Amino acid sequence: MTDAVRELYDRNRQRGVAPWCGFEYDFVCPSMGTYPFQWFWDSCFHAVVLSHIDSGRAQIEIRSLLANAQPDGFVAHVTFWQREKFEDLLSTYAIAYRTPYLSDCMQPPVLAEAVAAASRGPDGDAFLAEVLPRVRRYYDWLDTVRDPDGDGLIATLQPDESGLDHTPKYDRYLGVTAPTLAEMTAAWERVAGPYDTVQREPAAMFSLDRFVVEDVFVNTIYAENQRVLGSLLARTGDREGAAALCARAARTTDALVSKCYDPSSGLFFDLAGLREEQLRVSTVSSLVPIVLEELPPAVVDALVRHLSDSSEYATAFPVPSVAMNEPSYLPPAADSKLVWRGPTWLNSNWYIARGLRRHGCVDLARTIEDRSVQVVERGGFREYYDPVTGEGFGARDFSWTALALDLLIALEGDCT
Ligand code: GLC
Repeated sequence: MTDAVRELYDRNRQRGVAPWCGFEYDFVCPSMGTYPFQWFWDSCFHAVVLSHIDSGRAQIEIRSLLANAQPDGFVAHVTFWQREKFEDLLSTYAIAYRTPYLSDCMQPPVLAEAVAAASRGPDGDAFLAEVLPRVRRYYDWLDTVRDPDGDGLIATLQPDESGLDHTPKYDRYLGVTAPTLAEMTAAWERVAGPYDTVQREPAAMFSLDRFVVEDVFVNTIYAENQRVLGSLLARTGDREGAAALCARAARTTDALVSKCYDPSSGLFFDLAGLREEQLRVSTVSSLVPIVLEELPPAVVDALVRHLSDSSEYATAFPVPSVAMNEPSYLPPAADSKLVWRGPTWLNSNWYIARGLRRHGCVDLARTIEDRSVQVVERGGFREYYDPVTGEGFGARDFSWTALALDLLIALEGDCT
């Protein structure tokens, strides 16, 4: 697995100097065929993987990601380093731009976890001193710009900001009536179009109330990463910063439990619109909060019950991105361009398996880790997998699927 990951990360490595900003870049792109640019949360996962094979490259991956961090703290969800080389491909994307080379969206804030992994090497302290001010500014940007109601939960303003682009949990809210790419693109334009009329100014976008989602997946990652950032700040001696971030992490976790958890179904649901209506569709988002250490035991038990139920999530190759008994569940199809409507992804498995371990459910964690490794060994690094057959689909040579290496290390840790 280590050799296969090394080869993959050499094939997908992009290096050069960008004339538009004058900076050097060196990063792993998600997939040469479909995603040749630098994506935010993908790059964070790549840094986690790189920390096992080359900690120097893990740090370089993060340097490239932060190279174009904005003075206000914002970091784009895509940096189009070599835009001119891929104009044809770019014309097929639905993306909102801040500049021709930077998108104007966020993605799930996995940055602190990536920095923690990249700082485990020998020169980790110097690396932290270099990047932490920008990392802190990024989380402060999320807190001040993306949490206008101050409840501890940040809001996404477009479906692609959650990284779960076509998930059925947004269908009703977006007015999507059929699972086709044309419907999804039209829905995206109904949201992003009006934003142009307010020059994409965040407060004005919020008041339009076209798509305001306090997303459970995003906020779970936000809570966990604030906690991790708190411990990184403590490591550098910034006690005040550490206390502030840990308090913010606790506030986000409390808000997830008090506002998004539904005790009657035992699932977490996103909150939509300024009226904060729960989007009651059972997807992998409903389960990822299991990674949070402070979750009440009764909530953990409920999530474990769903993960163990073969009519919902306990498939041969778990964890499907949508519960199998949801009417919107769609098995993967070779000609589909839709993502997050049923298949199993390795990044959500990475969170869920760790969460299960944290709460002592080692057997279930091992099953998820073992099957995640199996699908990669059988079908290579694909974008996602059929939860029933384990067959791979979507992009080939897909870089974050190499998180299988991290899952394998956890699995083997039990044997030593
Ligand atoms: C798709 C995914 C998104 C990912 C991107 C690049 O758009 O939905 O989460 O970041 O591809 O891999």
